[in-house]
Amino acid sequence: MQYPVIAIDGPSASGKGTVAARVAAALGWAYLDSGALYRVTALYAREQGAAWDDEAVVAALAAALPVRFVDGRVELDGRDVSSDIRAEEIGMGASQVAALPAVRAALLQRQRDFAVHGGLVADGRDMASVVFPEAALKVFLTASAEVRAQRRALQLGVPLAGEAYERIVADIEKRDEADRNRAVAPLKPAADAHMLDTSDLSIEESVKKVLDWYRQIEN
Ligand code: CDP
Repeated sequence: MQYPVIAIDGPSASGKGTVAARVAAALGWAYLDSGALYRVTALYAREQGAAWDDEAVVAALAAALPVRFVDGRVELDGRDVSSDIRAEEIGMGASQVAALPAVRAALLQRQRDFAVHGGLVADGRDMASVVFPEAALKVFLTASAEVRAQRRALQLGVPLAGEAYERIVADIEKRDEADRNRAVAPLKPAADAHMLDTSDLSIEESVKKVLDWYRQIEN
């Protein structure tokens, strides 16, 4: 039995996580934050003393990752790591481990297992291209670099000017560059993706747009 999937991909801090979670809630579907899996892998590797570029070791850790998603929380080995994994440093680590093919392969089935009942909204970088190529709807969600930096700063409670903010801008640029240019599953819109620039859209407007597209397909 095939369950419907909505795949939402896009660059760092584009707002895809918030939009994807709300679309899932509106439809009563499950939600997969695939980036959280890469972030937890980076955190777990660091805790286990593994270097982020040690492909064999990090892939083995990813394959046995003791992660659970419980009521919107992310648990690693039973500990709530929901906020630890959001640190920009762990984001950079996630981007590094995500560039390793063996790590991506180790996490592939785990992501597909989320489409077990009802429907699934999945967000990430390669949901449409690799993980769920049969998705009913594919959305590539973007926003200008400035808007994305502001969204990330708000998420982390950082003022919209000053050194910490400049660091966020630099980190976003660096991570986007790495995600776009890596050899495996580079960030780019799938050929059949609907493009959604949310720079001037509220969350509600973005959610509505995705739901409208899905309803059009469904009918
Ligand atoms: O929240 P943000 O958009 O900044 O990042 P994320 O979605 O949590 O993903 C963190 C990192 O994991 C990204 O920079 C990507 O390198 C990687 N990632 C990936 O390669 N493939 C995915 N499906 C999701 C995330």
